[in-house]
Parts: sequence; structure tokens; C-alpha cells
Amino acid sequence: MGNQTGNDLVVHAENLAKDLKLGEVTVHAVRDVSLSVRRGELMAIIGPSGSGKSTLLGMIGGLDSPTRGKIYIDGQDITNLDERALTRVRNEKIGFVFQFFNLVPTLTALENVTLPIQFARNRKFSPAARAKDLLAMLGLEERMHHRPNQLSGGEQQRVALARALANDPPLLLGDEPTGNLDSFSSEIVMNALRNVQKETGTTVIIVTHDMDVASQTQRVVSLVDGRVAEDVDARSSAQLAAVQMLRDKRTTGELTSMPVPERRG
Ligand SMILES: Nc1ncnc2c1ncn2[C@@H]1O[C@H](COP(=O)(O)OP(=O)(O)OP(=O)(O)O)[C@@H](O)[C@H]1O
Ligand SMILES: [Mg+2]
Repeated sequence: MGNQTGNDLVVHAENLAKDLKLGEVTVHAVRDVSLSVRRGELMAIIGPSGSGKSTLLGMIGGLDSPTRGKIYIDGQDITNLDERALTRVRNEKIGFVFQFFNLVPTLTALENVTLPIQFARNRKFSPAARAKDLLAMLGLEERMHHRPNQLSGGEQQRVALARALANDPPLLLGDEPTGNLDSFSSEIVMNALRNVQKETGTTVIIVTHDMDVASQTQRVVSLVDGRVAEDVDARSSAQLAAVQMLRDKRTTGELTSMPVPERRG
């Protein structure tokens, strides 16, 4: 293994491609993506619908194998692993959050977070204590014994975030983690993600349609037609310009990180 796959790179993709067969037609969902993500980065992937964001995230997360190219996660080449080995990589190295929170409806917040710790072979943590710590870090100490239908969307997504972090993965992936939230809850979840990254050093990659969400990350990669677009494509340069404008507004305080409640009277 070369230096480029050294320990500071949690994700390293070389000329990654994925062809999907749809009947007689082959869809080139991801055509050629090379990407390195350093430990502790908070990154967003943006791009038009159908540009390959979910397909790319699926390959990074070991949910799907590439058709061509190479992919390393946390220094390990996962390109040609079989399903069993991939499952192990996913369990040990990757936490997932999705647009729909996918919590177990009959379990409390605490039980939802405890579950994956109990399942893990490696007994690094005491399950209930670990789950309580994570929920407290995400501001949910008052909600531990609530079931999902007794929680707001933003609270449910923070429980899902705690669950994804349960076994302390080096990499957290989210496909539209704020896609089902109003802008207030979306800010709360983004704040939680930033806290997580600060406090645990977890590398975070999220796919988003929301330029305001993207502007709250450190790095934005824009996909167009299955490729990293940089500034060359008008569709991506417009989006990147919007991200930059929103970032500037946050720097000057014109946009605050948390909405200030309206004062009445
Ligand atoms: N299972 C599949 N079979 C065939 N084609 C697929 C499949 N999944 C996705 N595609 C196609 O691959 C391309 C990339 O899809 P992908 O879901 O990665 O896009 P996306 O950027 O996540 O889009 P969105 O923003 O709408 O979620 C699209 O043209 C899509 O139609
Ligand atoms: Mg998608």
C-alpha cells in the first residue's frame, strides 16, 4: 500500500465507477471519481438529482461494490471484498444516517442506541452507559425514555445520529440527513453533526440538496453526471457560488448558526 492510503485518509477513492443495468440499458451512475477525505473532515457532496451522489456514498459505505476503480476505507482496500467481509467493515468502521430516521418504533431512544452496542462483538463500551453519554452529548438527556413517535423529527434524527455513533466508527455517512426536516430542525441536526465532529474527531460525509446545509460544512464536492465537477460546469459553479455566499453570510453574522427566537411585544 502506498503512502497515499496512509492513516490520515479515512476515504481514498481512485477512478471509482459504477455501472447499473436497467433492463437492456447500462446507466453510468458514477463515471470517474477520485477523492481523498482526511480524518476529522466534515464534507458535503452536492449535485443535481441523478448525478450519482447516493451511488457514490453507497460505494464509500461498502453497501455496493464498484464496477471499476479502487476504494480504501481507513487504510483498508475494500474494492473486492465479498459480502461477508464488507458487512464487517460496515459494522466496525461506518455509521449511517438516512433521510427517514429508521428507528425501531417500539423501542425508546435509549434502547434504539443501546441495541447496536449490544450486537457488537467488541466490548469496548458498557451499552447503556455509552448510549446515555451519546444522547446527552446530543442534548437529548430529557428524551431518553421517549419512543420515536413521541419525538420531533430533529430529535429523532439526533437519536439516529447517536445510534450511528454507538460503536465509535471512524466514518459517519449521511444521505440527505436533513432532507425530511424543517429548517429549524435541520440547523439543530447540523449543529449536532458539527459537535460530533469536534468532540469525537469522526469523519463526516453527507449528501445534501440543501446549499445552506452544505455551507455549514468545511468542504463541498460537487458531482455532475457521475464526475466531480469542480468549477468547470455551469450547473455546479452556480451551486458552489450559492454555498460560498451562504458561508459568507454566516461569517458576517447575517445568518446565525441557530435561529434566534422572535421577540414578542
Ligand atoms: N438500481 C438502479 N438501477 C438502475 N439505475 C439506477 C439505479 N439506482 C440509480 N440509478 C441511476 O443512476 C444514476 C445516479 O443515481 P443516484 O441515485 O446515485 O443519484 P443521486 O445523485 O443520489 O440523485 P438524487 O439527488 O435524486 O437522490 C441515476 O441516473 C439513476 O437513475
Ligand atoms: Mg440520492
